[in-house]
Amino acid sequence: MSDLDLYHIVLAGMLVSALLSFISLFFVSAAYGRHGRPGWGPTLSATAGWVLMEAPSPLLFAALWWTGEESRGFSAPGLVFLALWQAHYLHRAFVFPFRLRGGQTRMPLSIVAMAVVFNCFNAWINAHWLYVLGPIRGSEWLLDPRFMLGCLLFAFGYFVNQQSDHILFSLRKPGETGYKIPQGGLYKYISCPNYFGELLEWAGFALLTWSPGALVFVIWTAANLVPRARTHHRWYLEKFLDYPPERRAIFPFLY
Ligand SMILES: NC(=O)c1ccc[n+]([C@@H]2O[C@H](COP(=O)([O-])OP(=O)(O)OC[C@H]3O[C@@H](n4cnc5c(N)ncnc54)[C@H](OP(=O)(O)O)[C@@H]3O)[C@@H](O)[C@H]2O)c1
Repeated sequence: MSDLDLYHIVLAGMLVSALLSFISLFFVSAAYGRHGRPGWGPTLSATAGWVLMEAPSPLLFAALWWTGEESRGFSAPGLVFLALWQAHYLHRAFVFPFRLRGGQTRMPLSIVAMAVVFNCFNAWINAHWLYVLGPIRGSEWLLDPRFMLGCLLFAFGYFVNQQSDHILFSLRKPGETGYKIPQGGLYKYISCPNYFGELLEWAGFALLTWSPGALVFVIWTAANLVPRARTHHRWYLEKFLDYPPERRAIFPFLY
């Protein structure tokens, strides 16, 4: 079996698992954060859980970049791909978990394990395409409309994701664990702008890399975050009688 055949098999497997997750997450929410509940096995602190489950993404991606082909890895676009990936994932793995308020809450080890498996496959389908299998992108790619538009989308998504998470963190004083109605930024329109921003980021990454791995990643992200946003949104409506009725779950004015 060739390397490319194996790559296609992994992509197909990830698409099938994205579809299965999408369907099942409408019926069973992942048991962490406000939807945490017993029955998911041993737990660890949310801070430790986030570090453990997200760290494989920047580390494996960097290792695959380093061991990939020099002509791809050290081209200007190859370095931009690396920089954007790391801008998101170094923050998610090593900064975000220490900013959690109420980070003493517990997270099931089973969820962490599933996320580690996903993040390893995901780093591989992205980096292996960019640094081994995909087309060699020279500096002219930096002026391609797909690259430029993708960068804008990624940057906007990154800003929205960071801003929205920051608003959530500022709702609690150190040591607090309760929930409040978030205000400001895109919370004016939707309950989960952090998820919306995350989706825009990876849609931008798929566009700027023009890579099948990144396309599968954004599909996976939607399969995971759209049902969770729906669950969060319903939870808000049930918990707060004065919850703004015009807010949607994840897509402004739409859903
Ligand atoms: N790429 C992907 O597939 C993927 C998957 C999952 C998450 N993510 C990203 O990871 C980040 C965190 O995700 P998450 O699912 O943990 O997000 P979340 O449910 O919105 O929670 C984020 C943090 O804010 C706190 N929080 C949320 N709503 C609050 C409220 N109304 N009042 C006070 N505190 C509140 C949460 O506390 P509690 O933990 O106590 O609820 C948690 O510490 C997001 O940026 C998301 O986009 C990405």
